[in-house]
Amino acid sequence: MNEIAARDNGGLSTSNNNGSSKIRVALVYGGRSGEHEISVRSADSIQAALDPARYEVLPFFIDKSGKWSPNVLSPEPGANPGIDVVFPALHGTFGEDGTIQGLFEMADLPYVGAGVLASAVSMDKAVTKKLCAQAGLPVVEHCILHRGEFDVEAFAPAFAFPVFVKPANLGSSVGITKAKEPAELREALKLAMQYDSKVVVERGIAGREFECGVLGGDVPSASTPCEIIPSQEFYTYEDKYLLDKAKIELPAKLSPDQTEEMQRLALGCFEAVGCEGMGRVDFLMENSSGKLYINEINTIPGFTSISMYPKMFAYSGITYPALLDTLIAIALKRAKSRQQTQYSK
Ligand SMILES: Nc1ncnc2c1ncn2[C@@H]1O[C@H](COP(=O)(O)OP(=O)(O)O)[C@@H](O)[C@H]1O
Ligand SMILES: [Mg+2]
Repeated sequence: MNEIAARDNGGLSTSNNNGSSKIRVALVYGGRSGEHEISVRSADSIQAALDPARYEVLPFFIDKSGKWSPNVLSPEPGANPGIDVVFPALHGTFGEDGTIQGLFEMADLPYVGAGVLASAVSMDKAVTKKLCAQAGLPVVEHCILHRGEFDVEAFAPAFAFPVFVKPANLGSSVGITKAKEPAELREALKLAMQYDSKVVVERGIAGREFECGVLGGDVPSASTPCEIIPSQEFYTYEDKYLLDKAKIELPAKLSPDQTEEMQRLALGCFEAVGCEGMGRVDFLMENSSGKLYINEINTIPGFTSISMYPKMFAYSGITYPALLDTLIAIALKRAKSRQQTQYSK
């Protein structure tokens, strides 16, 4: 029986190629992005939490230069008969941005998380904002600049300083500057443009920062939100990964109405970008107005046992192993539904 036939047998069913009753999960991790190390830690936690009685884990490590070991996944349908589902535990570029999801699609392999389009859209802060705004969701005032199409020396935003300058497609706060005056803006634009040809400049929000998890399925659900209290002027790369000084408040200190509103917006954002499986929606709340803004959505949020996505769901009553079970079940169900799609006449 080949991979496709195995899935014809019921998606979540227990039969597969080797006759064993376990679901064979290809855990793809590492990768070329700046979040390589965090991906390795996410994968360790996922592997440790997958019930060995139900799952067989097949690790696929991608090193920083992009080399796979022990093997590569073949892009041909049916050519990976030993795999029932792929769990991409990759963050950032070439993992969270739709590129590797394209490989899984070509290979007809079920995979956890967002599809190609939602992954690519969510990776791009400019496109995410466009889709959210179009869905009537609140995003911060911003403008989008393309390398070579504007004068770095003369550019002035239409809103007051401070402004945040960001490469459109990246993560971990890399290439992001909080510019407090025009003189700082020039350097900030140059830095961001080193990382992407598209740059987002947005009004800086003086306020609080929150995260809210979304778990997909027939009816997506939102987690209890948490608050991030950076130890630096904003939540920088150092603050995220090196300093260990940022504080997390779970549950976030919010009124029931505010919590409900955040969850509603998180689900709205998840839907607006067409996300599936999982997503962590990040928010800014302005002190002066109390207004809530969607900052971004991450389609493969950190998955270490101490990462906020699993922690928020644990607080909401879904344990880490149960979260993995659900994500894998969603992936298998989606793959089954996709089999009904016809690709030619
Ligand atoms: N408009 C803004 N106002 C205030 N702080 C911001 C704004 N945009 C980003 N930040 C700060 O910068 C951090 C990183 O920005 P973010 O857009 O989340 O990029 P990344 O994808 O790298 O995490 C945020 O966590 C927040 O601390
Ligand atoms: Mg962020």
